[in-house]
Amino acid sequence: MFKKITNLLTAISFFAVTTLFGFSASAQQAPIVIKLSHVVAENTPKGLASLKFKELAEKKLPGKVQVQVFPNSQLFGDAKELEALLLNDVQMINPSLSKFDRYTKKIQVFDLPFIFKDAKAAADFQKSKDGQDLLKSMEDKGLIGLAYWHNGMKHFSANKEFRVPNDIKGLKFRIQASDVYESFMKALGANGQKMAFAEVYQALQTGVVDAQENTYSNMYSQKFHEVQKTIVETNHGILDYMVVVNAKWWNGLPADIKKGLSEALAEATVYNNKIGQEKNDEAKKLIIDSGKAKVVKLTDAQLTEWKKSVAPVYAQFEKDIGVDLIKSAQKHSQAAQPKAEKPATKK
Ligand code: LMR
Repeated sequence: MFKKITNLLTAISFFAVTTLFGFSASAQQAPIVIKLSHVVAENTPKGLASLKFKELAEKKLPGKVQVQVFPNSQLFGDAKELEALLLNDVQMINPSLSKFDRYTKKIQVFDLPFIFKDAKAAADFQKSKDGQDLLKSMEDKGLIGLAYWHNGMKHFSANKEFRVPNDIKGLKFRIQASDVYESFMKALGANGQKMAFAEVYQALQTGVVDAQENTYSNMYSQKFHEVQKTIVETNHGILDYMVVVNAKWWNGLPADIKKGLSEALAEATVYNNKIGQEKNDEAKKLIIDSGKAKVVKLTDAQLTEWKKSVAPVYAQFEKDIGVDLIKSAQKHSQAAQPKAEKPATKK
């Protein structure tokens, strides 16, 4: 009798356990895979922040999402990553702001030479209403901008000694796929050659191009300083990024996933923006210590030479970008007006 009861209990618990496991196995859904592709090295602001996003997203949504990060143009390079996003072959990318001009002309405002006096002015514009509106300006093309990530100010480098525009006349400059930069190079008397980031080192090494423009963290991590003679600190433009997602994919996500991913992204953005300047300062020091390319700080008079050349670029693009948007961006670089003195109060 006792044996019968034990057997019965064993059978019942076996049934319960298998049912339970069977049930949970079918209820347990495979995690949503999010492919995040970018073109830079891992030890850069964007590379590290992409990994931070993965860590945070997987922690906030355990078992629900898996973020796969592909650095260094491994999965898609510049030429293909936006198309891949629209085809949902990747779900998230973070290209530089210069790479969106096929999708919105307004975003070209970021490429206008010397429009921001420093990285903070660019960040302030991004935070303003006009800056935030630009995140939403490509929704009709199937892209949603979720955040700006900062890298920093860009500088010119070349395979010869140079200080002012006259020294770079006729040189071939690798530029990003930006019409504004093509025009800027022309205004400087140089030739802009649009080229994917992954090809730049070899192009500089073999002399396909003579020069380029980028931030210190990108120059150091790609070893551009080893194949360039001079880096001139021009601070002529901002290299920042927009984190973008495929609109249809994003809008179709369950609310809890969207919330978790948005929180993870907000934290990864803070992290990115904290390390952006640090990484550039560190890379500048490493370049100087390497003794390879010479880093040159310009005098005010030399800097003015560079700034003098930009008027035709503004004239060419102001219609597409919009005068008001240009002014709105410029506003953040104006020196703060001294506060009016309080009128003396009579005693
Ligand atoms: C470049 O192409 O020079 C940069 O946009 C690369 C990057 O993503 O920082």
